[in-house]
Amino acid sequence: MRITFELNGKRVECEARPNKTLLDLLRADLGLTSVKKGCEQGECGACTVLLDGAPVNSCLVLAPQVEGRAVTTLDGLVDDPLMAALRKAFMEDGAIQCGFCIPGMLLSAYALLRENPRPTEEEVKTAIEGNICRCTGYIKIIEAIMDAAERIQNERP
Ligand code: FES
Ligand code: FES
Repeated sequence: MRITFELNGKRVECEARPNKTLLDLLRADLGLTSVKKGCEQGECGACTVLLDGAPVNSCLVLAPQVEGRAVTTLDGLVDDPLMAALRKAFMEDGAIQCGFCIPGMLLSAYALLRENPRPTEEEVKTAIEGNICRCTGYIKIIEAIMDAAERIQNERP
């Protein structure tokens, strides 16, 4: 079936089987390999994307469900100042090891800081509770998100 939606700010029209997941559409058909394929069961968060601004597991969304809606992946936020602050904090705070969880982690953190620019540590933990990291132990990821929030606040006039 034909699907039309907005992907990273651009209108996209594509063909997809009705049972194709958004994950497979983005990663396999549209080549967005920043969207990671992990458990495919809604458990790991590696496939997180933003759907109309809210984080979702793209392995649990069927491609036809995005008809007329806006999908954002990490690729669409390359020039975004908030995402830039998050990337910098993740790198400087040593929050990245193998990197597999990081796109999903960054998008969950981004959605949190857009809604809540000064989160508590508990709120950060809640925001990333659906994103599993097998490498870092989470401490540095949480610190990086708190640091990014602080940097963004300090840069504001
Ligand atoms: S691949 Fe979607 S939640 Fe794990
Ligand atoms: S950095 Fe390896 S899974 Fe998170």
